[in-house]
Amino acid sequence: MTEGQVLVGIDVGTTGVKAIAVSTSGDVVGRAEVGYELQTPRPGWAEQDPEDWWQASELALASLETQLEESAGAAAIAGIGLSGQMHGLVCLDEKLAIIRPAILWNDQRTGEECAEIERLVGLEQLIELTGNRALPGFTAPKLLWLRRHELDSYARIRHVLLPKDYVRLRLTGELAIDAADASGTLLFDVARRAWSERVLEALEIPLEWLPKVLESPQVSGLTLAGVPVAAGAGDQQAGALGVGVVRPGPLSVVLGTSGVVFAALDRYKHDPEARVHVFCHAVPGTWEAMGVMLSAGGSLRWLRDTLASGAGYEQLTAEAAQWQPGAEGLLFLPYLQGERTPHADPNARGAFCGLSLVHDRGALVRAVLEGVAFGLRDSLELLRELGVEPESARASGGGARSRLWLEIVASVLGLPLELTAVEEGAAYGAALLGGLAAEIFPSAEEAVRACVRVRDRIEPNGDWQEYYERGYSRFQALYPALRPLEES
Ligand code: XUL
Repeated sequence: MTEGQVLVGIDVGTTGVKAIAVSTSGDVVGRAEVGYELQTPRPGWAEQDPEDWWQASELALASLETQLEESAGAAAIAGIGLSGQMHGLVCLDEKLAIIRPAILWNDQRTGEECAEIERLVGLEQLIELTGNRALPGFTAPKLLWLRRHELDSYARIRHVLLPKDYVRLRLTGELAIDAADASGTLLFDVARRAWSERVLEALEIPLEWLPKVLESPQVSGLTLAGVPVAAGAGDQQAGALGVGVVRPGPLSVVLGTSGVVFAALDRYKHDPEARVHVFCHAVPGTWEAMGVMLSAGGSLRWLRDTLASGAGYEQLTAEAAQWQPGAEGLLFLPYLQGERTPHADPNARGAFCGLSLVHDRGALVRAVLEGVAFGLRDSLELLRELGVEPESARASGGGARSRLWLEIVASVLGLPLELTAVEEGAAYGAALLGGLAAEIFPSAEEAVRACVRVRDRIEPNGDWQEYYERGYSRFQALYPALRPLEES
């Protein structure tokens, strides 16, 4: 029945749209990427034009279709799934026209509005209702920022969408969202998987602005050609599905621009201080808890761009491999852009600590790789406090191409890291959701069984772990020690 059919996953990312075509047994048979600009009108701000997302998606889809036509035994698209950068605010007027550029997940302008939300709703109640605290990247504080700073734009709002949902609107004409992505708005009752009327009331945001909520595999609409489009999920949930994390078991560890440690939960629970995010997962009836660090691969990119412009990552990690674990006492704090987990502090800043004349560029790189691993360990410890008991993790993201970094992360986390055969991240999970919408697979578990294969496993290095336990204690002590400097 499924021969000659493919599933398409579209990931509306921060640097571009990635679209892939996947066979019903999980092989990637087509791939297209189209980039776009990130605007930073002021330091700490991050915006994009939703029209760019749509144009890039159209181009990527057209390219995929050409690839499919040209391949032997042209395959028909059975289903499409969407995923994308989470938390971004897209505002539309009554004619569904874009009011202003979208404000993105990594935008840091809303510190005051976060404090206002925690005051208006009450921090404890906010955590109780949404599972989360107000963080600058989330969607609700952005709406309050517009109300305070751009009243004209705010007054025109009739619809609020997240990034991938704008692409859905153009693809199918439907206004819809999935419970997983809606969880990152701070307007969502994550336990009940529905918009939170109490939060909306407290913030005076009309429920009518928000799209209907579906579960990730549900059909949200059809393309002009009649192809079903799954509701989809945020990039982290789709990415976790794409590496087979559907139920409590292995974690998903992502070494992308940001760094994530993600656990699937079979029931809703939240940290009383909301130090990890708790969202609905893309698998109906399940939730997820995750720690997000803002600069993981981003820290390494920063180091390359500032100190090693022109050098490739392979060269840099080879230099880092010349150093022993702990790089002779050099430590790096990866808070280059503030931090979410565990500090929830937009003003946190990075540091190298313990520099001496012996250190060279390779030592700096090693310290960055280790500092990011320590940041991931912070998230792992918080997940453990929530009752998560992992035995392994699935690694993905650009940083997972470095064997050294994987060995460092495995040793710092004390967990084996598995790599899956396909490394397409969120787009792959989105394609699987497309397969669920098209009824190719009866369940997320079956989709994973049919498509996701582990190809490699990196064990923690026993000789390194002792260094890293000591290093981690020093790492934990550093952030509080730096606070007074920032505040002075
Ligand atoms: C998750 C998060 C990022 C963005 C961008 O909370 O902020 O994963 O979705 O990729």
